[in-house]
Amino acid sequence: MSEIKKITVADIIKKKKEGRKIAALTAYDYFTSRIMNEAGIDLILVGDSLGMVVLGYENTIPVTMEEMLHHTKAVVRGNRRCLVVGDMPFLSYHISHEEALRNAGRFIQEGGAGAVKLEGGQEVAALVKKTVGAGIPVLGHIGLTPQSILNLGGYKVQGKNSASAQKLIGDAEALEDAGAFAVVLECVPTALAGEISKKLAIPTIGIGAGPLCDGQILVTHDLLGIFDKFKPRFVKQYADLKSVMGDAFSAYKKEVEEGTFPGTEHSY
Ligand code: KIV
Repeated sequence: MSEIKKITVADIIKKKKEGRKIAALTAYDYFTSRIMNEAGIDLILVGDSLGMVVLGYENTIPVTMEEMLHHTKAVVRGNRRCLVVGDMPFLSYHISHEEALRNAGRFIQEGGAGAVKLEGGQEVAALVKKTVGAGIPVLGHIGLTPQSILNLGGYKVQGKNSASAQKLIGDAEALEDAGAFAVVLECVPTALAGEISKKLAIPTIGIGAGPLCDGQILVTHDLLGIFDKFKPRFVKQYADLKSVMGDAFSAYKKEVEEGTFPGTEHSY
């Protein structure tokens, strides 16, 4: 059997240099990770969106390190080639740099991830530098940063006026200078995302940031049509798994009740 080459942060950066787009998705379990490997996805983010689409929390704020590590390990077990990025949850990197480094290290040492993601721009640049200096690759995340939802006052497009656009450009540059290998741009106007993507040597990975980013990411439960609590405009639903699952569950229930399942072919 031929050796499968694991995608590294250097490969992700190289894709931008070669003008090739990066396809990233979120995953939270072994089985989905395996399918994404077979589909050739470049980067799997074990996002703290876990809290909303898998654990049923209202937002990402309640998600803990232990929950993130549990799911990161499952994704890593299903992975042979994608770059797996662990998402640092709320308050896991705010109390002190020491605690942040320890938590980032846990994603790599215990979780088996190849990098971590954290939200924020200039205010986290010094931490990003320390983390990268410790040998832990960092994916930045600016624009709409869901862990700051209480401050932001809702899931809104960011960088719409000139001052906030300039702030986002400064944030992106600060992350690049600090050594981040790529930056997620969430809910940013297309032209601004294009400008940031042009300015940076490292890739931008957009979600609700238009087609000019160097790559795209979506929350997999949105793409598959499983998460139906709300559907942001930027989501393209590639399947209707909620209906497929609902139909399968109903058909099963009906056959159990009618006594047609299990048939002789399913019995010993
Ligand atoms: O947690 C997550 O899934 C994310 C993506 C939306 C980028 O941060």
